[in-house]
Amino acid sequence: MDSYHIIGGKRISGSHKLTGAKNGVLPILAASLVTGETCTIHNCPDLLDVNTMLTILKELGCKVQREKNTVIVDSSQLTQSYIPKVLGKEMRSSVFLLGPMLARCGAVEMSHPGGCAIGARPIDLHLKALQKMGAKVEEENEKLFCRALKLKGTTIRLDFPSVGATENIMMAALSAEGETRIVHPAKEPEIEDLQNFLNACGASIVGAGTGEIVISGGKPLHGAEHKVIPDRIEAGTFLAAAAVTKGELLLENAAPFQMASTLAKFREMGCSLRTEQDRIYLKAPQRLKAVKEIKTLPYPGFPTDMQSQFLTLMSLADGQSKMTETIFENRFKQIDALKNMGAQIELQGCSAKVIGVEELRGCHVEAKDLRGGAAMVIAGLAASGETIVEKICHIDRGYDKFEVALKNLGARIERIQEDEREKNYKCEKA
Ligand code: UD1
Repeated sequence: MDSYHIIGGKRISGSHKLTGAKNGVLPILAASLVTGETCTIHNCPDLLDVNTMLTILKELGCKVQREKNTVIVDSSQLTQSYIPKVLGKEMRSSVFLLGPMLARCGAVEMSHPGGCAIGARPIDLHLKALQKMGAKVEEENEKLFCRALKLKGTTIRLDFPSVGATENIMMAALSAEGETRIVHPAKEPEIEDLQNFLNACGASIVGAGTGEIVISGGKPLHGAEHKVIPDRIEAGTFLAAAAVTKGELLLENAAPFQMASTLAKFREMGCSLRTEQDRIYLKAPQRLKAVKEIKTLPYPGFPTDMQSQFLTLMSLADGQSKMTETIFENRFKQIDALKNMGAQIELQGCSAKVIGVEELRGCHVEAKDLRGGAAMVIAGLAASGETIVEKICHIDRGYDKFEVALKNLGARIERIQEDEREKNYKCEKA
């Protein structure tokens, strides 16, 4: 697997144009197959999870074309309703295909997406909702079969505002008879983006971003063109890299109004921020200030996808901070690596107490998951000496040419490809 070699101590400064949101484009691509026509999706980032979704769509019979950041999906000819295990397992977001496949074909067979590095991640809320709409769900040896001759609109009250479950219900409800109401849905901006895309395709959905979403099923759908919203987590990650390296960064193609809770924490830690409609400017202080507590929460609260990056910031801030993770049960996997770099962190249940140190030391670490991996890169950018981050396939899942963008902003970072390293190793041995 590839790795990053980073020489720390360089400021991250300059301007960076954000790509489209990974968590926005994945359900939109899945939803495109419900239309049975051609959908053109702009601002589509080139990253591993998106490419896996495109491969799955092709397996199902869609024709897929990419021209730079525009992806065209023609779903007129679906040839199968089975998602191959190897693809489904590669990406948890394959679960997004349940709703669209039920809506389009009345059946889907896939392997259970299972748990992943950050927690058990059950899909019971997805399945319970689909069952309430009339789907038959069978689980056998890790396999999942869902069938529905006709889905029926109903009221679904989510016990927890799950992002994926909300999106799956919205997509399944497109073909349901009558109205489907989702009470206590997730309110993430990506849900509103999905609503906008589906309405552009002829659907009738209202309420995304509020406490109730109503989908009027059975509307005739057609192809549409859509531009995906900017990636607020990519935005936060680059701001964190600038914040921890005393840098100065301008983000373009941003949506600052979707990032209020994250931007508030950068301010609390001593960064100066200026925002315009689609730009964010950050100037870092000489040293970040500790922040009493950050608690991850469903949107509009502080996003769990920014927890790892802020843990790196806290590790170098002046004073004691606390990070509490309330969404995923196993999302502190990078703590040991940060400690090896000199951070002082004590894990107490779902909270991490951090006493900021003046310097982190470069060392050999491993990305354990997507955002935790990005957090280790940020730590390496700020640390003294060399940091090697192994297993960056996790980072490739969610960032479009991460090292190229960081290099453009002044970082000393190189991707070392596995076979190159093996070559070097052989050379060393020779
Ligand atoms: C999405 C995002 C992910 C983000 C997360 C929370 C995508 C592709 N991924 O993931 O980056 O970290 O939202 O903002 O959009 N849960 C259940 N049963 C279910 C579904 C979820 O118990 O059926 C639990 C999960 O285990 C977790 C919590 O609910 O503890 C939140 O999960 P959810 O909002 O569903 O996250 P994802 O949609 O998987």
